[in-house]
Amino acid sequence: MKEEHKQYHKRLMTVALRLVKPTAYFMLLLLAYTLGYLSSPSSSSYPRSPVPSSPTPFINELINLPSQLDQFRVKAHCAVPLPSERVRQTILDRVFNGTSPFDGFPPTYVRPLLQRQRIRGWGSNGAVFEHLIQKVRPRTIIEVGTFLGASAIHMHGLTRKLGLEAQILCLDDFRGWPGFRDRFKDIKMINGDVSLMYQFMQNLFSVNATDSVLPVPFSTGSALEKLCELGVYGDLIEVDAGHDFLSAWSDINRAYRLLRPGGVIFGHDYFTATDNKGVRRAVNLFARIHGLKIKLDGQHWVIDST
Ligand SMILES: C[S@@+](CC[C@H](N)C(=O)[O-])C[C@H]1O[C@@H](n2cnc3c(N)ncnc32)[C@H](O)[C@@H]1O
Repeated sequence: MKEEHKQYHKRLMTVALRLVKPTAYFMLLLLAYTLGYLSSPSSSSYPRSPVPSSPTPFINELINLPSQLDQFRVKAHCAVPLPSERVRQTILDRVFNGTSPFDGFPPTYVRPLLQRQRIRGWGSNGAVFEHLIQKVRPRTIIEVGTFLGASAIHMHGLTRKLGLEAQILCLDDFRGWPGFRDRFKDIKMINGDVSLMYQFMQNLFSVNATDSVLPVPFSTGSALEKLCELGVYGDLIEVDAGHDFLSAWSDINRAYRLLRPGGVIFGHDYFTATDNKGVRRAVNLFARIHGLKIKLDGQHWVIDST
């Protein structure tokens, strides 16, 4: 009797399991589908672009951006400002070992390579230069990116016209850019070294500007760091070197630290199509982070620190 009862129970369990298993699977399947459906960002459209689950981390990143960028600073503060009248001699002493680069210029081996005057620039005579020089009446001008000196020579003429004793420091590695000689074949090369700085210096001679303009022939990054270390600040700073985002971004950040209170920083190529990706993006980001206003003057952007 006991054995019969056991058998009966076993059969009952088998039948019950056969009935319950598919129902359990079905319930599980339904639950998983419902959960998946409810947690998906969009229930109908495919393919889907990734949508951030919450905007908060993105906003936090933007809020923290200035302090994040601060971490990239090499030096927190530049040296105490030098009086303007000591700027030229300080550059001669600290960059040229106390000798003017114009002494004995041009060296004999360079003379045959030079043209009496070869000036070429881009927007280098724009009205912005006169507007800003009249407004700021600068004693020290820092030009970041000089090439053959077109804008430097224009600024020199304007300061002379206004009776200002301004020094113009021209920061450039005087290498141009890879392939620039495709359009400037007449700028000669000496053993792979292009004679851009010599032609720039010759241009200064041709307009009698050697007393008020000096080359600072290094990469913009290292030259701006040096000026920061020496305490050489600009009343007017023009940024017109590398036009890709990273170059423009780095130049603007480094140059802005060298702006005297009340000074103006400005630069070319705010509007050209390609510079939307480089110069314009860098200027806009910089102004937004620092809460500065960008003014426009022709193709130039202008940030006035007053
Ligand atoms: C557009 S040109 C400057 C034109 C000049 N401002 C004018 O209007 O006559 C750019 C110059 O920036 C210089 N340059 C670009 N990147 C540089 C860098 N990282 N360091 C030094 N000079 C740089 C090039 O050698 C070139 O002479």
